[in-house]
Amino acid sequence: FFNEKPQLPLTGKKVVVTAGPTLERIDPVRYISNFSSGKMGYAMAQAAIELGAETTLISGPVALDPPLGVKLIRVESASEMLEAVLDHYTDADYVVKSAAVADYRPKTFHDQKMKKKEGAASLELERTTDILKTLGERKTTQQLIGFAAETTDALTYGKGKLESKNLDWIIVNDVTNPSGGFGSDVNVVTLISRAGVEIPFPAMEKKELAKKLLTTIVQEGQDSL
Ligand code: CTP
Ligand code: CA
Repeated sequence: FFNEKPQLPLTGKKVVVTAGPTLERIDPVRYISNFSSGKMGYAMAQAAIELGAETTLISGPVALDPPLGVKLIRVESASEMLEAVLDHYTDADYVVKSAAVADYRPKTFHDQKMKKKEGAASLELERTTDILKTLGERKTTQQLIGFAAETTDALTYGKGKLESKNLDWIIVNDVTNPSGGFGSDVNVVTLISRAGVEIPFPAMEKKELAKKLLTTIVQEGQDSL
């Protein structure tokens, strides 16, 4: 017992992280997606590993190497992400939804490449399932952590999402902030608890920020804010 490892805050816990954009196919050569780089989600997965958790990373298409030790599940569309998340939900202690899930997908997938025609064109879209809202409705003992990417009234919209999706925490991200956001290695966020406690984090590297966020969530969750 002299060699016993010190217990880490998430030893024995299961964490599921989603990351990156989703990609919604239009035809064999075209798709709809967004500018999410996946960096924040991958940093959250790395932080979960470092805190001792058994970590599953469900990732949309990104150009990043997965953190050492994660179980990586690659997905493409919102519906594939939904399926993968639900498969891992019952067992999870924490679910961190960093992914920028497409809100809409093309109503029909065209088997053949669509040919251009004279004049303007339009694309019919339908809503994807809100994965996080679905998790909120089915929540039992999991801690649900969402992200809110906003360009205006970030805290107000963030709190609305915390409420409407039945979350325990929301990490609010003003993506217009020049020192952070999509693609950047740096981020500026405010962490808000279900009880309304707001914790602002100054601009810092996503990896360092992720560790601080998760540590706060785990600690404060025990004192149940
Ligand atoms: N989210 C999700 N499934 C979707 C859309 C969003 O799980 N189909 C999750 C995201 O992963 C994120 C949170 O919901 O954790 C908030 O995403 P965001 O795009 O900021 O909010 P929306 O609810 O989609 O609202 P809007 O885009 O209109 O602001
Ligand atoms: Ca959205």
